[in-house]
Amino acid sequence: MELENVVPWGRSFSEYKEIFALSKNDVKQKILGCGDGPASFNAELTRLGGNVVSIDPVYKFSSDQIRLRIDEVYPQVISQVVKNRNDYVWKSIASVEDLGKVRMDAMKIFLGDYKAGKESGRYIDASLPVLPFNTNSFGLALCSHYLFLYSEHVSQEQHILSMRELCRVAKEVRVYPLLSLDGEKSRHLDPVMSALTNNGINVLIKPVKYQFQKGATEMLVAKCV
Ligand SMILES: C[S@@+](CC[C@H](N)C(=O)[O-])C[C@H]1O[C@@H](n2cnc3c(N)ncnc32)[C@H](O)[C@@H]1O
Repeated sequence: MELENVVPWGRSFSEYKEIFALSKNDVKQKILGCGDGPASFNAELTRLGGNVVSIDPVYKFSSDQIRLRIDEVYPQVISQVVKNRNDYVWKSIASVEDLGKVRMDAMKIFLGDYKAGKESGRYIDASLPVLPFNTNSFGLALCSHYLFLYSEHVSQEQHILSMRELCRVAKEVRVYPLLSLDGEKSRHLDPVMSALTNNGINVLIKPVKYQFQKGATEMLVAKCV
């Protein structure tokens, strides 16, 4: 992964809570955040006393490198959103300005935590479909805005291998959204669900309260053990 190909964009703990319908018991588990990038989920949950590890290939870069890249891509991402504003639900995030603030606030919290978190092993440079953890290391693995969303860039085989790997390291896996970038249901969803079912993994689709990308109202839940 080259820095010039990275578009850092991160969500907050409260967004993750809605995205994955996280209960009080859920956040007490040992959690893996997969593809967390510059989200503030790890920083905020750690501050609240949670036990969370995030992996992302972007963690091979320093905080200065990620900060510079955020500043570089921010205007581009915002102008894309302005162009495609009808693809989003402007409710809890009320406007493009609001979106910019919510995302920048989250990424600032991440950047403030990144050095200490990296040193203590909470931010690990790793990439699906291979994770550097023992079997059943986590109670819950969460994957926000990577699998299914990037269906045109990540193959069906990579999706299946990634889900199997997440199920190897965690007892339960939740993935959101189930739509790809074009707003349509991911073409990998049905094959992934069939492959996991054939492996004896119980999969179901659950509604969630969160919605920003229009129609993204469901998560995939895999009960792995
Ligand atoms: C759109 S961002 C989502 C960030 C965060 N999860 C959130 O929802 O705010 C997608 C993330 O997936 C990460 N990513 C790309 N390839 C990956 C891989 N093979 N395994 C894990 N994460 C990957 C990117 O570096 C990026 O941080």
